[in-house]
Amino acid sequence: MAGWDLLLTDARIATLAADSPDYGEIRDGAIAIADGCIAWLGPGAERPAHKSRKTRSLGGQWVTPALIDCHTHLVFAGERSQEFEQRLEGASYEAIAIAGGGILSTVQATRAASANELFDAGLARVKALAAEGVATIEIKSGYGLDVENELKMLEVSRRLGESTDLTIRTTLLAAHTVPPEFDGKVDDYIDLISNTLLPEVAKRGLADAVDAYCESIAFSAPQIAKLFRQAIDFDLPVKLHADQLSDGGGAELAAYFNALSADHLEYTSVAGVEAMAKAGAVAVLLPGAFLTLRETQQPPVDALRKNGVPIAVASDCNPGTSPICSLRTAMILASRLFGLTPLECIAGTTREAARALGLLQDRGTLEVGKRADIAIWNISHPRELAYWIGTPQLADLIIGGHTTRP
Ligand code: NIG
Ligand code: FE
Repeated sequence: MAGWDLLLTDARIATLAADSPDYGEIRDGAIAIADGCIAWLGPGAERPAHKSRKTRSLGGQWVTPALIDCHTHLVFAGERSQEFEQRLEGASYEAIAIAGGGILSTVQATRAASANELFDAGLARVKALAAEGVATIEIKSGYGLDVENELKMLEVSRRLGESTDLTIRTTLLAAHTVPPEFDGKVDDYIDLISNTLLPEVAKRGLADAVDAYCESIAFSAPQIAKLFRQAIDFDLPVKLHADQLSDGGGAELAAYFNALSADHLEYTSVAGVEAMAKAGAVAVLLPGAFLTLRETQQPPVDALRKNGVPIAVASDCNPGTSPICSLRTAMILASRLFGLTPLECIAGTTREAARALGLLQDRGTLEVGKRADIAIWNISHPRELAYWIGTPQLADLIIGGHTTRP
């Protein structure tokens, strides 16, 4: 048997394994890495005698699975601070959208930007997330809203994955809002996405999933159902922006299509939560959007817990509702605004975020056989990750077995 590539010793490991209590703590732990994966992990005293090319003592530092941001819109051009100001002066998000602002103003800027400009802007945001311990990021399209520009966004996202050590998962969100060319012809736009864009995206392997925005200012459940049926025909899993501003039956729709996740969920009913539980869909909570829109309607956290729905937390990094390029901030906000416990915040950005991306079999916890995506922290307990605000605590990030300095 070939030796290990790297052996981490004297670590306090929070495995976050689903079958372990709490954080899955292993004191005086060791992790052996071979071929980018965890080959052995456990108490140092039980470590088998085995050669390793490199050994690194962590001197008692805590390690957790590297963080996963499972919902972002981080490829975009421009910014929307003027709209932010308008909202603080009394205009609502819906009213701005209906007047042609909101998502559509970012569409204008993103269409006008070159692929290289979008790449540079996206790369800076990817690096900001990685600097906090994030190794896997989901990026949605949805600011192109025509064939050419949706493909451009997805290609840029794929390039971000190829040019960095991080894993980038891409999601087609062409059903984000109705583009001006299709004003009053929403069904025709859904047909364009379903019959022209989606087949091209699938043929070129540009997306790992399909998402849609189910809301009165965006798309109805029947319109989204049509798109989701096509996605499933192309073997692409679905996920949904559901019940963010009103209860549009989004959670039920997501459950019906066996979605990986339903996201936002502020207005989801208990029936919607029960449907998600039956379907095994993850609830992705986005406290950055809740905070920025100064929402008061809380997502149904107790019902999610009671029904055993897995809860993930993500940044929702976007220029309109969540200008927050920090997953740590999302964790911190989830504890303050939604009452999630620190353990729920950390599981929500590791194990449950992996589950929301359909990647739990190879990441999200520290277990033998999974990718060696490991964050090393300067903390005295992992609960501190949801506690301190504005304090950088990452000591090192190991991605696929290699130390990465973002
Ligand atoms: O997740 N709700 C729709 N999509 C984004 C907002 C996008 C935007 O306003 O640009 C969200 O909050
Ligand atoms: Fe979003």
